Formats: sequence, C-alpha cells, structure tokens
Amino acid sequence: MLEFIDSHAHYDAEQFDPDREELLNRIHEGGVLKIVNMGCNLERSRLSVEYAEKFPFVYAAVGIHPEDVEGMPEDYLDRIKKWAVLPKTVAIGEIGLDYHYEGYDPDLQKRIFEEQLDLAEELSLPVVIHSRDATEDCMNILRKRGKVSGVMHCFSGSAETAKQVLALGMNISFTGVLTFKNARKAIEALEVVPLERLMLETDCPYMAPEPNRGKRCDSSMIVHIIEKIAEVKGVPPELVAKQTTENTLNLFYKMK
Ligand code: NI
Repeated sequence: MLEFIDSHAHYDAEQFDPDREELLNRIHEGGVLKIVNMGCNLERSRLSVEYAEKFPFVYAAVGIHPEDVEGMPEDYLDRIKKWAVLPKTVAIGEIGLDYHYEGYDPDLQKRIFEEQLDLAEELSLPVVIHSRDATEDCMNILRKRGKVSGVMHCFSGSAETAKQVLALGMNISFTGVLTFKNARKAIEALEVVPLERLMLETDCPYMAPEPNRGKRCDSSMIVHIIEKIAEVKGVPPELVAKQTTENTLNLFYKMK
C-alpha cells in the first residue's frame, strides 16, 4: 500500500457535505497519512482549523485566495494570524495572484498577497502559492524577497518558470493535470523538478486525475499522480511516495 501526504485539499467544499467524515476516515486508513486543508477566505480558513481540531491526520493552512480578496475586512490579517499560530496550522495559503477571470483587481490582489507573505515571514511559516495567468507579477513579487519558504501549487507554468521557482528555494506540486492526455507542458516542467523538491496534492474536489477525470476528486486518487511521476522519473512509485512525504514534512515543519 502506498502511503503519502495530500499537501493541498479543500474538504470544506460542499461536494463533501454528504460524506465528509466517513470519507476522510476511510482514505486515511487507505494510505493517506496526512492532509493539509487549504484556507481560501476567512470562513474557509476557520473551517480548515475546525477540521484540524477534529481529525488527528488533518492539518490547516489559513489565508485569502486571490479570487476572494474583494471586500476583505480591515482586520482580516489579525484574524488569519490568530489561526496561524495554532499548533496544527502548518502554512499560510493559499495565497497569490489570479488574473484568469475578467474584472479582477490586480492592485488589490497584490496588496493582499504581499501582506500575507509578510505575515508568513513574521511567523516563520511556509506559504502555499496559487498563480494563474499571472506568472510575471507573481515571480516579481517573490523575487523581491530573495528566498521563499513555500510551494508553488497546481503548477501550470513552463519548465523555464519551474527552474525560476526552484531557484527561489520553493518546492513545486502538480495535481491530476499530470495524468491528462494534453499534459505535455506539465510533464516537461516535471522533468526539471528534482524528486527532492516535489510535493503531492489533489486540490480536491477539483482536478481529479485519470481515470477519474471529471469526477469528484479525493486524496486517495493521488496514487494515479504518483504512478505518473514514477513513470516520468523512472523510479518506483514507493520512492515517489516516500520522498514527497519527507519533502512535505520538511517544508510544513509543524506537521512533524
Ligand atoms: Ni486549491
């Protein structure tokens, strides 16, 4: 049985309302050692913390997603901080920039992103970064900081961008996208990421890997991502599972 960590999941999503508790306990018994539930806004960060309290193998990340920055109350950072210092909160995330949908406010997104990067630095916590259609701005913000302790999640950039992310000291994680038929760009990026810098994630309930594409995703489906990485890297799946677990525990050090 493969044992691994899902470093990025959204079990607060309504898709899990019918069977959340039963599902989480079942997949944990099936090899999902630990799960990090992401925060996206204040309410969903609170839920991350709640699940971390309820399930021994669930950990929390707290933060404001770039698509949720509109109308943030002025004290939002204080509220994030209150949750961030709890023992089972392992990262600030997911934070970043997303210019995918029309009507976004790049200046507001950048401000909230940078404020949360500052908070992470202040608390010595790693960050989970979401960047979509915003590579240049995102990389500029990160480069200003020199080194960044964190992971670039659901990586969708080029091999060249992957090298730049690695040079900042960050890890990279890929979702089920790796297993899709049109995944050539993701595979090319994967090829330049050493096994020692890789992490596993589902981003569930989204991004289900083949052969489950389009279905509700859960952490157990990471086995398909592991198999793909093993194939591309030419190593046994067990090694991918073991090394990514180690990488994740090293980055999210409060999880050890
Ligand atoms: Ni996510």
